[in-house]
Amino acid sequence: MTATMPSIMCIVGARPNFMKIAPVIGALRADPLRVNTCLVHTGQHYDAAMKHTFFEQLGIPVPDVDLEVGSLSHAVQTAEIMRRFEPVLDAHRPAAVLVVGDVNSTIACALVAAKKGVPVAHVEAGLRSYDRAMPEEINRVLTDQISDWLFTTERNARDNLLREGIADEKIHFVGNVMIDTLLHHRLRAVPAEQTLGASGDPAPFVNALNGYGVLTLHRPSNVDDPAVLKRLLTTVHDLARDIPLVFPVHPRTEARIRAAGLESLLDGARLLRLPPLGYLEMLGLMAGAHLVLTDSGGMQEETTALGVPCLTIRENTERPITIEQGTNTLVGTQSARIRAAFADILASGGKAGRVPELWDGQAAERIAAHLHASLCGGAAAAVAVR
Ligand code: UD1
Repeated sequence: MTATMPSIMCIVGARPNFMKIAPVIGALRADPLRVNTCLVHTGQHYDAAMKHTFFEQLGIPVPDVDLEVGSLSHAVQTAEIMRRFEPVLDAHRPAAVLVVGDVNSTIACALVAAKKGVPVAHVEAGLRSYDRAMPEEINRVLTDQISDWLFTTERNARDNLLREGIADEKIHFVGNVMIDTLLHHRLRAVPAEQTLGASGDPAPFVNALNGYGVLTLHRPSNVDDPAVLKRLLTTVHDLARDIPLVFPVHPRTEARIRAAGLESLLDGARLLRLPPLGYLEMLGLMAGAHLVLTDSGGMQEETTALGVPCLTIRENTERPITIEQGTNTLVGTQSARIRAAFADILASGGKAGRVPELWDGQAAERIAAHLHASLCGGAAAAVAVR
C-alpha cells in the first residue's frame, strides 16, 4: 500500500458476498490515486463451486489475505474469524474496513474493527426480517449498530435504522451493488440450454426450455429439520409434474438430504439436481426461467431485476421492496400456499413488477464517492441520494 493514501480493507467470506464486493472493489480501484484497497477473504466458503468460480467470473482480485477459517459452528466460526483478523488489521492499519451483507464474516470483522477504533462501512445496511431466529438478522442488527457509514439498497432501510437509534447522517441510500453486478454481467450469462446440456441427462429439460422453474433451498429453518425438509421436497416433487424444476443444491442442503435419507424424493425425472453453479450459469438459468422458488435473499432481488416471478419459501423477508415493487411473493413453508401461488403463476404469468429506485448499476460508484469524500476530503458526489 502507498503510505500517504488512506486505505480501505474490504472483507468477503461467503458466496453472497462475492457479487456484492466485485463492483465496490472495482469502483474504489478505478481511482487509484485517492485510496488504496486491500481484500481479505475469511475463508468461510472455500469450495471451488462456492468461491473460486465467482472470483474468476466476476473478476474479483486475488485476496491479499486469506484467513482460511472454513466451516465451523456459528460461535467458533465467528470467534475464529475475529482471532485471525485482528493481527491482519493491526499489520495493515487501514483507514476503514468495508463489510457487505449479513454473513458471519460480516459481523466478525466489523466487530474487530469497531473495537480497534477503525471506522466500518456496511454495504446493504438496514434490511430487517424482524426474525431473530435467522442468524443473518442478528448479524445485520449488530453490524449496523457499530458501523459508521450505512449504505442502503432501499428507502425502507433508513426507517429501520432510525428506529434503532442510528444517526440519520450515517445513512446513505445508494442502491443495490448486487444489481450492479447483475447488470454488468447480464450479457455474459451462460444460456440455460448450455448449463442444462452439460448436466448429464438433460433431455426432458432441454425439450422443455420453453418452461422450467429454478429451485434453491439452503436456509437452516428449511433444511435442518428433517420433517420440514421432507415436506418441502415432497411439495416440489409434486410441483415438478407441472413444469420441470432445476435444483442447484447447496452443500448444506446436500448433506441434510443425505442424512435424512430423502434422496428418493428427488429422483423424479422432472426435477434436475445440479451441483452449486457459477454466477454466470445461475444468472442465465434465472433469466430464462418461467419462475423461481427460493429461500435465498439475493435471488429475491435478482429475480425482481430480471422481471422473473419469484416465490419465496419463507415466512418473512428482509427485502420487502421485492414484494411491494418487484416480482416476489412470500409463500411461507406450507404446501397448500406454495402450490396455490405456483399454480397462479402458471395460469397467469405472475407479477410483472418494476425495478426499484437506484437499482441502476451505479450503486458501487455512489459508495466509492462517499468514501472518497469522507476519507480524502472534498464534497460528497452529486450522485449520493438521501
Ligand atoms: C452462509 C450464510 C448465509 C448465506 C449462505 C450462502 C451465515 C450465518 N450464513 O450460510 O447467510 O445465505 O452462506 O451460501 O453466514 N460448505 C461446504 N463448502 C463451502 C462452504 C460450506 O461444503 O465452501 C458446507 C459445510 O458443510 C458447512 C455448510 O455448508 O457446514 C454451511 O456453510 P456455512 O458457511 O456455515 O453456512 P451457509 O449455510 O453456507
